[in-house]
Amino acid sequence: MTVPIAIIGAGIAGLSAAQALQKEGLTVHLFDKGHGSGGRMASKRSEAGALDLGAQYFTARDRRFVEQVQLWQSLGWVQEWKPQLYNYRDGQLTPSPDEQTRWVGAPRMSAITRGLLKDLTVNFSCRIAEVYRGQKYWHLQDTDGCSHGPFSQVIIAVPAPQATQLLAAAPKLAAVAAGVQMEPTWAIALGFETPLDTQMQGCFVQDSALDWLARNRSKPGRDEHLDTWVLHATSAWSKQHIDLSKEAVIEKLLGDFAELVGCVVPAPSFSLAHRWLYARPATNHEWGTLADADLGLYACGDWCLSGRVEGAWLSGQEAARRLLEHLN
Ligand code: FAD
Ligand code: NAI
Repeated sequence: MTVPIAIIGAGIAGLSAAQALQKEGLTVHLFDKGHGSGGRMASKRSEAGALDLGAQYFTARDRRFVEQVQLWQSLGWVQEWKPQLYNYRDGQLTPSPDEQTRWVGAPRMSAITRGLLKDLTVNFSCRIAEVYRGQKYWHLQDTDGCSHGPFSQVIIAVPAPQATQLLAAAPKLAAVAAGVQMEPTWAIALGFETPLDTQMQGCFVQDSALDWLARNRSKPGRDEHLDTWVLHATSAWSKQHIDLSKEAVIEKLLGDFAELVGCVVPAPSFSLAHRWLYARPATNHEWGTLADADLGLYACGDWCLSGRVEGAWLSGQEAARRLLEHLN
């Protein structure tokens, strides 16, 4: 019997590692506490359609990721998004076009991780509480008290604060993860029956509680009947208002949006709020992955590189590379 490798976290980092290992003929088994894959790249199903509440788009700068995105494009999982971009600063809203290529999953962000899941074994709705070693192999204990295993190696692909506890068997790695600060983001979605009278499809915002605005249906493949917008608050505002009720968050951010967007904003017919507790690492790192290859324990995720989709994917590749290097 081949003893499989466990991967905790079916976000883009965990799935990136899973694909790289599977390509080399290894058997992997994923676990995720969510109902589906994608983590911060997932799309939320709602009465207004599927909404990208987390990652909005992504850029590809590293050659390896550029090639990967080209492959996803050929499979129909991603398309280029060419929004009419604006910038808001000092009370002024100005068009801010650029040449940057920006990608989105199509018809929704989660199309990418859904595609990557093919042929992989995943236990969803399974939150791992502990990673412990038996005589020879690793085992995982979930929060319902069930034990999973044996596994030859374990890759922990969850945000740093959640990885710390799971890395207890490797105290040095746990200490590094514990030192990573991750910042929150409040996200809201607003749906309007009548399209707002603006050309804007995306906007970078300065000097406001808001950080970013996106017109969801300007992304390729979306066919919502409402004109739905996704708004993100800054990390600073989100931190200061972390325990505010969802209703109060919607009221405040809707008010700020109405002030800056430059057209009449009627009452939305749809709204929702989502709090991302661990949205982004406070700083970038250059670790790639954290590894104790002798133990067979690895950690990866955006917090090991840059707090972006590309950083998370590259980190998953790096975890797989280090694991394979040790096996050979
Ligand atoms: P995650 O996506 O967080 O995946 C971790 C997975 O682990 C999750 O599915 C979670 O459910 C699971 N998990 C956690 N703990 C456990 C446990 N104990 N047991 C089992 N499963 C567990 N990036 C960009 O490039 N462009 C953007 O425009 C952009 N915008 C963003 C906006 C917001 C609001 C947020 C929140 C993020 C944004 N990002 C953006 C960042 C990007 O989404 C992340 O960098 C990337 O998705 C992180 O992937 P990951 O696999 O490292 O982590
Ligand atoms: P990018 O190159 O489009 O943007 C990087 C940054 O450059 C932007 O944040 C913005 O400040 C500036 N910028 C880019 N184009 C601009 C334009 N046309 N006009 C004005 N300013 C412009 O994308 P990249 O490097 O892939 O970054 C990803 C994006 O995801 C960033 O905007 C980042 O803030 C956001 N993000 C948000 C998170 C959250 O929790 N809210 C978490 C992680 C990333």
